[in-house]
Amino acid sequence: MSEMATELHSEVQRRRTFAIISHPDAGKTTLTEKLLLYGGAIRLAGTVKARKAAKHAVSDWMEIEKQRGISVTSSVLQFDYDGFRVNILDTPGHQDFSEDTYRTLMATDSAVMVIDVAKGVEDQTKKLFHVCRQRGIPIFTFVNKLDRHGKSPFELMEEIENVLGIRSYPMNWPVGVDGNYKGVYNRRLAQVELFEKGGAHGQWVMPSTVGTVDDPAFADILGVDAHRALCDDIELLDMAGDEFDIDKVLRGELTPMFFGSALTNFGVRPFLEEFLKLAPKPLARKTADGPIDPTNEDFSAFVFKIQANMNPTHRDRIAFIRVCSGKFTRGMSVKHVPSGKSIKLAQPQQFMAQERVIIDEAYPGDVIGLFDPGVFGIGDTICSEGKNVHFADFPVFPPEHFARVQAKDTMKRKQFVKGMTQLTQEGAVQVFRQPEIGVESFVVGAVGVLQLEVLEYRLKNEYGVDISMHHLPYSVARWLDGYQEGKPVKGLDSGVIIRDIQDRPVALFRNEWSVRWATEQNPHIQFLLVPER
Ligand code: G4P
Repeated sequence: MSEMATELHSEVQRRRTFAIISHPDAGKTTLTEKLLLYGGAIRLAGTVKARKAAKHAVSDWMEIEKQRGISVTSSVLQFDYDGFRVNILDTPGHQDFSEDTYRTLMATDSAVMVIDVAKGVEDQTKKLFHVCRQRGIPIFTFVNKLDRHGKSPFELMEEIENVLGIRSYPMNWPVGVDGNYKGVYNRRLAQVELFEKGGAHGQWVMPSTVGTVDDPAFADILGVDAHRALCDDIELLDMAGDEFDIDKVLRGELTPMFFGSALTNFGVRPFLEEFLKLAPKPLARKTADGPIDPTNEDFSAFVFKIQANMNPTHRDRIAFIRVCSGKFTRGMSVKHVPSGKSIKLAQPQQFMAQERVIIDEAYPGDVIGLFDPGVFGIGDTICSEGKNVHFADFPVFPPEHFARVQAKDTMKRKQFVKGMTQLTQEGAVQVFRQPEIGVESFVVGAVGVLQLEVLEYRLKNEYGVDISMHHLPYSVARWLDGYQEGKPVKGLDSGVIIRDIQDRPVALFRNEWSVRWATEQNPHIQFLLVPER
C-alpha cells in the first residue's frame, strides 16, 4: 500500500460522522453537550447551551442574524474519543427546522434519535427518521430523561415499531422502577451502571462477577425486588426479543436502543462507547459511475448546505462540503463539476463552537466550510482535477409552508428576481409559479416557517426589496404525474395547481386528508411526494 493509501485507510477507519435527531426538548442539546464533555472538548461545554438560549431569544430580525451566525459556528462539532475522530453534525431544529435539517442527513453516516421517555416518538422525530430510513442510514436510539416518570421500556419498543416501523434491540435496560430508576444494566458487558442522586454527575459502575444479570452481587445493591424485575425483563428480552444483528443495524432495519439520562449523566458514557464501536465509518458513496470508496486517493466532496451573510459586514457565503474520498489539503485546486471550472480551496474553515478555525487537511467523513464566490449550489460535487465525479442527485424535500410573494415596488422587479434566484440556489426556499396570477408574483414553499420570514428579511436587507407576503393555507405539496393540462383534478376544490421551476405541475393541499381524497378521485394521476427526475 502506498503511504497515502495507508493514511487514508486509518483515518477513514477511525471516523464517525453522525447527526442527532429529535423533537424539540427531547434532550438533543444536553446529550450533545455531554458527549462533548466526555470527548474532552470541555472548552466547548456551555456553548451548545448558549446557542440554545440564543434560539429561544429570537424576537426580532437582528436576533435572527445572530442566531444564524451562532448556528453556523457549530455546523460540526469535532472531538477525539478512544482513538475515534467524532464529527457531530448539527441538525437545526426548533423554529429553524428547515430543508437544511434534512440536507444535513445527506452528509451523515448514521443518526442518533433522542426520544423523551415520557413523550415517546414525536412529530419532528418521525419526519427526520423517515429521511434517514429512505437513505438507509443506521439509526441508534437514545431514550432520555430516565430520571423521570415515563413510558415503560417495553411500551417504547412497541411504539417505535408501530410508529416508525423499525424493530429495536435494547443494548442496556433501566434498573429500578419508573420514576425512580437507579441506572442501567449493560446487556453485553453484564454490568450495572448506577446513577448517584445528589452527585452532580455521579455514577458508578458495578460489573458482574459471574458475567450475567443473575449475579447475587446485583441483588445486594439493587434490592431483591428490583433485581428480580430486572432478571425477568432481561430473560424476556433474551427469549422474545430480536437477535442483535449488526448487518440489520447497518442497513437501517434494526435500531440499537439505549436508555439513560443526559442531564444526570447515567447511560451516556456506555452509550458513546458502544455507539462508536457499532456506528459505521464513512462508506462508499454512490456516483453516476458506480460507488466511490472513501479510501480512493482521488478527492471528492459535495456541497450539502450554503449559508449566506453570516457576517453582515462581509457579504460572504459559506458552502459546507462533506468530504467523501481522498485527502483534502489547504490550497489544493479542485474541479467544480457542474461548471467544469478549477477552484483553489484557499481558506477552508472548520466551525468549532464560537470560532472559525482554518484547517489544513481533512479526510472522508469531515465537513469543511468554504468561502463561496457564488459558484456553489446545493448538491454540487467537487473533485480532483481531471476527474468527473457526480454524486447521486440531491433530493428535494416536500415543503409544508407556502406564501405568495411580490415586490411592493414594481420598479424593483429586477432585484426581486435576482434575490429570489440566488436564495433559491442557496436552497433557502423553493419557488413556484402560478400561471394565472401573472409574472409579478411567485409562490414560495419552505420546510420550516422560519424560512419564509428569513426570505422576507434577506430580500429587504441584501437586495433592498420590500415584499408583500401572503401566507397560503396549504400544508402539503404533491407533484403530479399523469396530469393533463386544462383537465380538472377532481376533489381539489380547496387546493391549487402551480408549477415548479422546471415547469412540473404541483398540487397544493390543505391537509393529508385532501390528498387522500384527490388520490381516490383521480386514479389516472399519481400524487408524488417528490418530483420524478
Ligand atoms: P433539545 O435540544 O432536544 O431541544 O433539548 P434540551 O437538551 O435543550 O433539553 C430540553 C429540556 O429537557 C431542558 O430543560 C433540559 O435540561 C431537560 N433535559 C435534558 N435531558 C434531561 C434528562 O435526562 N432528564 C431531565 N429530567 N431533564 C432533561 P429546560 O428546563 O428546558 O432547560 P434548562 O433550564 O434545564 O436549561
